[in-house]
Amino acid sequence: MALTTTDFQRLSHELDQGLALPTAWYTDQGIAELERRYIFRRSWQYVGRTEQVAQAGDYFTAQVGDIPVVIVRSAEGIQGLVNVCRHRRHEVMSGAGNRRSLQCPYHAWTYELDGRLRTAPRSERELSFCKEDYPLLRVQVATWGRWIFANPDPDAPPLTEILGELPAILASSGMDLDQLRFWRRDDWVSHANWKILIENFLECYHCPVQHPAFSAVIDVRPDAYRLEAYRWFSSQTGSVRDTISGQAPPYDAQGDVQQAQFHFLWPNFTISVNPGRPNLSLDVWLPDGPTRTRGFSEHYFGPDVPADWAEEMIAFNAQVGDEDDELTSSVQRGIDCGLPDQGRFLANSEHLCIHFQKLVLSAVARSAILCS
Ligand SMILES: [Fe+2]
Repeated sequence: MALTTTDFQRLSHELDQGLALPTAWYTDQGIAELERRYIFRRSWQYVGRTEQVAQAGDYFTAQVGDIPVVIVRSAEGIQGLVNVCRHRRHEVMSGAGNRRSLQCPYHAWTYELDGRLRTAPRSERELSFCKEDYPLLRVQVATWGRWIFANPDPDAPPLTEILGELPAILASSGMDLDQLRFWRRDDWVSHANWKILIENFLECYHCPVQHPAFSAVIDVRPDAYRLEAYRWFSSQTGSVRDTISGQAPPYDAQGDVQQAQFHFLWPNFTISVNPGRPNLSLDVWLPDGPTRTRGFSEHYFGPDVPADWAEEMIAFNAQVGDEDDELTSSVQRGIDCGLPDQGRFLANSEHLCIHFQKLVLSAVARSAILCS
C-alpha cells in the first residue's frame, strides 16, 4: 500500500473532525507492514522484569514487535540481543534460565553474554572468517523501575523522554511500585486489529453499557471520570463509588487505593490499577497480522494482599477483559465489511482514541515523507 503526503494530510484533517481511520487501517496487510516498520521497529516496548535477570547469565526470551530478542545479564549489565543466530538464523535461545554463554542449538555457534561470537565450530578451516564480524545484533534496553523495555531503533529517543510524567502520575496513586509483588503472567489472543483493542482501552464511554460490575465500583459518569492525553501516553482516572448499590459488589474495593488508573504508553503498553488493596496489571498488545492481536497480562499485588483477594481481582479483570473481547471482535467483523468506511469518535468522551490515532498516523506518515 502506497500512501502519499496528501493522503496523510487528508486523514489528519479528518481525525480533527472526529472521523476515524478508514477500513484499510484495520484489515490491510500493507498497512500492517507499514506499522511493523515505522511503529514497532522504532518504539520502546515492555519485555520483562529486572528480577528475571538478577544474576550474571540469567536470561529470558521475548518479542519486540516481530523481532525475537533475548534479554541477558552480562558482567556489564542488562543486554538486549536479537535472538537470531548470525550463521543460518536459527533462534539462539528459548525460554528462560541461566547460562555462561548463549549457544545456538542448530550448529553450536556460541556467543558471549554480551553477544560477541566466541566459537563457531569448523570456522578455523575457513580462509577468511573473522569472529568479530558476527556478534548477535543488538536492541536498546532501558528500565523504568523493575520494568525492562527494548527498542530496535539505535537512534530512538531515550525511554525517559517517552515516559514523561507517567512515572510521577503512577507514583501519586500512593502505591509503592517497588514493593509490589509479581503474581503471574497470562498470555492471550484476540481476534481484532491491535488498534481496535487499544482504542477500546482508551475510552470508558462503553463502561456503563457493557461493564456493569466495573461501573458499580468505579464512578464512570462523564463529569467524574477524567481522560487526559499527554505527548506519548494518556491517563484515565476514576474514583471508587461511595456506595455500591443495586447489586452485590464484584470484589471488596475497600483499601488504600481509592482511585482507578488506566494508563496507555505508546505504542502498546497499558497499566491498570483498580480501587481497593494495592494492585496493578499491565498488558502488552502485539499485532499478529491485520486482524489478530496477541499479548500478555502481568498481575502485581502489594505484599500484604491475601491470595484470595488477588485471585478475586484477577477474575474481575478477566471478566472485564472478556466483555471487551466480545466488543472488539464485533468491531473487527463490522470493519471487515467496509461499510461504513470510517467511524465517528465523540471528541468529549473519546479524545484519547483520537490522540492515539494521531500518533499512529504521524508514525506511519514517515513512510510517505521518506518515499516522496
Ligand atoms: Fe471496556
